[in-house]
Amino acid sequence: MQIDVYAWAKLNLSLDVVKKLPTGYHDMRVVMETVELHDDVHISLTEGRGVLLETNFPYLPVDERNIAAKAAAVFFKELGIPERRVAIRIHKRVPVAAGMAGGSANAAAVLRGLNTLLGTGLSRERLMELGGLLGSDVPYCVVGGTALATGRGDEIRALDPLPSCHIVICKPQFSVRTPDMFSRIDCLKVRHRPDTEGILRALSKGQLGEVAIRLYNVFEDVLNGKEREVSLIKSALLDFGALGASMTGSGPSVFALFDKEELAKAAYLHLKQTYQETFLTKNRSESLV
Ligand code: C5P
Repeated sequence: MQIDVYAWAKLNLSLDVVKKLPTGYHDMRVVMETVELHDDVHISLTEGRGVLLETNFPYLPVDERNIAAKAAAVFFKELGIPERRVAIRIHKRVPVAAGMAGGSANAAAVLRGLNTLLGTGLSRERLMELGGLLGSDVPYCVVGGTALATGRGDEIRALDPLPSCHIVICKPQFSVRTPDMFSRIDCLKVRHRPDTEGILRALSKGQLGEVAIRLYNVFEDVLNGKEREVSLIKSALLDFGALGASMTGSGPSVFALFDKEELAKAAYLHLKQTYQETFLTKNRSESLV
């Protein structure tokens, strides 16, 4: 028995960290969007037990430290169904540790894939609940589309879809650690917050430009040293005619929305000369389950 599923990357149209919670996590208010850029996940089931994982990125762990392997283990454990041997092959394209929930999307794809393959018929709510056991972004990655994420990032409300547009995503050559970015926020008074309500209003009216000028991520305020390269990439994207640009997640990837494909393509070709992990894609606003 086998199945092929996609693991679509996400972007944050806005990201606000409201406050630190007693659990150590942070209360978030985030507008999410899914893009066509994805990893391919192949899952096969045979007799036996355990999870076998392989990916085309040699530096990724393939044992239980990989969230995709964890997802398979959680699925069998939580449902209390007899274990099978799960072989997962992931062809990765989505940059790792880049603010695009690549790992969370892989885990969500495994949950969706196993649900289909085993005919377990779990509702989207139950799949999201299982996702919540794996990480804050996994519930969103189960359902995808344009959505507002609150709480730890795991309370999801579907929103009116972002109008179709062209998107350039560019990952600078440094990485940041998500917990470090949250610690930096804790040490600072957040000076600027995104106009989340304005984005929700613009989405409800289907106004791409009004969303694009409001793209904002509070983590951009705590970038330092060479991380400020994020601003240079944003400026380049805006110079090429983007309607708006922002960093996504805890960074460092930058993205920009365009209404004209030729402008997006020109920006993509320019940035690709310097940054290997540059992508030209589109949004994918419909729900995944
Ligand atoms: O939930 P997840 O394992 O993806 O979170 C990774 C890290 O990001 C957490 O250990 C925590 O440091 C931070 N985080 C947070 N508040 C959130 C989500 C994540 O502080 N809402």
